[in-house]
Amino acid sequence: MKSNVFLKPPHLPLVAPSVLAADFGRIAEEIMDAERCGADLFHVDIMDGHFVPNLTMGPDMVQAIGRATTLMQDVHLMVEHPQDFVKPFLEAGAGSLTFHIEAPGLKEFGALDLIDRIHDGGATAGVALNPETPVEAVEGVLNQVDMILIMSVHPGFTGQTFISEVLEKVRWFRNKLDPRQRLEIDGGISIRTAHEALEAGADVLVAGAAIFRASDRASTIANLRGDYPR
Ligand code: DX5
Ligand code: ZN
Repeated sequence: MKSNVFLKPPHLPLVAPSVLAADFGRIAEEIMDAERCGADLFHVDIMDGHFVPNLTMGPDMVQAIGRATTLMQDVHLMVEHPQDFVKPFLEAGAGSLTFHIEAPGLKEFGALDLIDRIHDGGATAGVALNPETPVEAVEGVLNQVDMILIMSVHPGFTGQTFISEVLEKVRWFRNKLDPRQRLEIDGGISIRTAHEALEAGADVLVAGAAIFRASDRASTIANLRGDYPR
């Protein structure tokens, strides 16, 4: 298994290119290029056409990406019944699995049992919150997860506008979380919004369009992470 960058101290900000914005016709090249340009890990958006109005990719894609990179894949499950997808994505090589607290079918199975299932498979576990979902929704799993994912767009598509109201939740979680827990922000991240998210306390920045549509990916990744004089 690839080394899990979420577990590595110290917790410097990490940049996770969102594969959804890559050119799928040249996926291996796109992944190799993003790694060469300084990506810390890859963020992989799984959509089932039910939980969100889009269909994207499955475990075969995770396996293909894994052959092109040494970096970990952080799999973001935007699906109903996320418990049904843990095994196939772990077998495909995911290093971290994040489910949505709003996912239909999750309550019946149990979020804590789902986290255990992910941990038993050797991966880190994250929980995601849609922009309108209050922080209280994840209170019951807060101590068990390795990562909180704050959606800063409505899940479904790359290239949307950042919803700045969610920064308040980022600040709230930063104060609550243990230093070993990661705080990821996903959607509409540009160099400007990345800076705001880092200031608020996020330490994993997911960026799709900002990286894959940039003319200079290496400097974009460095600037997103804040590797520049302030
Ligand atoms: C949105 C996905 C995001 C998205 C990010 O539903 O969860 O990961 O691909 O893309 P950008 O950075 O272009 O908003
Ligand atoms: Zn995502």
